[in-house]
Amino acid sequence: MVIVMDTDATSTEIQAIVELVEAAGGEAFVSRGVSRIVIGLVGDIDHFAMMNLRGMPGVRDVVRISAKYKLVSREHHPDRSVVRVGGVSIGPQTVTLIAGPCAVETPDQTLAAARMAQAAGATLLRGGAFKPRTSPYAFQGLGERGLQILAEVRQETGLPIVTEVVGAHDVAMVADYADMLQVGTRNMQNFTLLQAVGEAGKPVLLKRGMNATIEEWLMAAEYIAQRGNLDIVLCERGIRTFEPATRNTLDISAVPVAQRLSHLPVIVDPSHSGGRRDLVLPLSRAAVVAGADGIIVDVHPQPDIALCDGPQALVDDDLRELARTMEDLAGFMGRHLA
Ligand code: E4P
Ligand code: PEP
Repeated sequence: MVIVMDTDATSTEIQAIVELVEAAGGEAFVSRGVSRIVIGLVGDIDHFAMMNLRGMPGVRDVVRISAKYKLVSREHHPDRSVVRVGGVSIGPQTVTLIAGPCAVETPDQTLAAARMAQAAGATLLRGGAFKPRTSPYAFQGLGERGLQILAEVRQETGLPIVTEVVGAHDVAMVADYADMLQVGTRNMQNFTLLQAVGEAGKPVLLKRGMNATIEEWLMAAEYIAQRGNLDIVLCERGIRTFEPATRNTLDISAVPVAQRLSHLPVIVDPSHSGGRRDLVLPLSRAAVVAGADGIIVDVHPQPDIALCDGPQALVDDDLRELARTMEDLAGFMGRHLA
């Protein structure tokens, strides 16, 4: 059950509801989005239904939602949401291009990748300082030094930063530097991490688990929303199938399916799904035409010596071609590149 509050509801009115629900043995989670305040209730829904919560001051509506995910469901919020990251919009009017190195390696490499991204038209910079690697012997990222480099590059270019956090204990530190926190495929069901990013006060990019169903992905988003953060962008990045020709299989149908079930924006990562540079453009085309709200791609000034995922990184010309194609296709879809 979800309580939708008037936009001008006071904190006393909100607190009164929280206390009433807690007194009835339930839990109430307050989420504040750009244009609304909602309270998600956990507990005995039938009992809450008899409490006349609708009559409480400041309450606009009380909605029983049948989907397992509530705050992120379209049932609860029929209009598709826009998430803003440092002034850049991700939502139904736009196709947002996010680009940058898979991993932050050095200041020069990161700045060069950011300049390539910006020259092509990207408006957000991606880059991993904490890398979730399969092998403990592979490059794990520069940690906090990597975040400092990202912050220096943001200072230089003005591009807001999207960066991954891999452990709940690091959320506060990563949030100090990041404009958007990324939760990667391997952590999609790390519930403690999801709750911590939900409380961090920064927009979140939630990648789909490579073995997760769409419903599981939306329930992971619900963990974040339940902790008070509705600024979530979903990212389809390929799933595990029996097909070895690509690194993962881009589930293009996940884009319209997730958008029908949830009001959250959905973007696509063609780099980690295909795992190959030559597939990034065709997969991006498919994503934009399927209705994706953005694309996140790896770029590197020297992919041959990249410390992580070089074979999928774009270089200058490829990225410019990708951006031009996205601009055309965005227009075809009645949107514009952001
Ligand atoms: C990158 O961004 C990930 O850390 C990387 O794709 C993990 O892949 P791995 O299996 O090479 O470690
Ligand atoms: C990444 O984008 O850096 C990353 C690790 O991606 P994924 O979690 O999708 O593998």
